[in-house]
Amino acid sequence: MARSKSGAARAQPLALELLMSDHRKVEDLFEQFEQEKDSDEGTRREIAQQICAELTIHAQVEEELFYPWLREQLEDDDMEMVEEAQVEHNTAKDLIAQIEGATDIDEVYNAKVKVLSEYIKHHVQEEENEIFPEVRDQQDELDELGQEITARKGELMEEMGLAEEYSEEDEEGEEEGGGRRGRSSSRESTQRSR
Ligand SMILES: [Fe+2]
Ligand SMILES: [Fe+2]
Repeated sequence: MARSKSGAARAQPLALELLMSDHRKVEDLFEQFEQEKDSDEGTRREIAQQICAELTIHAQVEEELFYPWLREQLEDDDMEMVEEAQVEHNTAKDLIAQIEGATDIDEVYNAKVKVLSEYIKHHVQEEENEIFPEVRDQQDELDELGQEITARKGELMEEMGLAEEYSEEDEEGEEEGGGRRGRSSSRESTQRSR
C-alpha cells in the first residue's frame, strides 16, 4: 500500500534505517581505530572516544525507545532476544567505561577497543538479523519511532557536547564544558578549523 510510495529509495522503515546507519558509522570508526592502532596516543584516544560516545547514545535511544517498543510488539518466544540484547548493552557499557576512564593508551587499551569491536559486531548482527526482521513490516510505527529516535539523539548529543565537535564547525564561544563529563574533547581536538 503506502509502503511502495517512496519505494525503492528506502528499503527500511525509518527507525531501522537510523539504527543501521549508527551501526555502520561505528563499524567505520572501529576500522579507523584498527588502521591507527600504531599511531600516537592522541589519535587513538580521539577515535576511541568517538566510538564510546556513539555507542553510548545509540544504546540509550535503543533502551529508551526501541527496546520498550519491541517488548510490546514481540511474542513471548522472541522476548528473550530483547533481554539478551539488554544484557549485551550492559556488558558493553562496562567496557566502554574502562576505555573512557583509561589513563594509559597502551596495548591493553588497544585490546579493549578490539574486544569491544568484536562484541558490538556480534550484538549488531543479532539485532539486524534476528530482531529487525521480526518487526520490519510495521512501517508506520517504525517511521514514527524513527522521528522520536532522531529527536532524542539530537538532545543526547547536545547534552554530551557532541554536535559541534562532530560537524567540525567552529567551537569557539561554545566552550562551556557543561555536560562534557571530563571528556576534554575540545582540548584534545586536533581537527579545529579555527
Ligand atoms: Fe543494541
Ligand atoms: Fe543497535
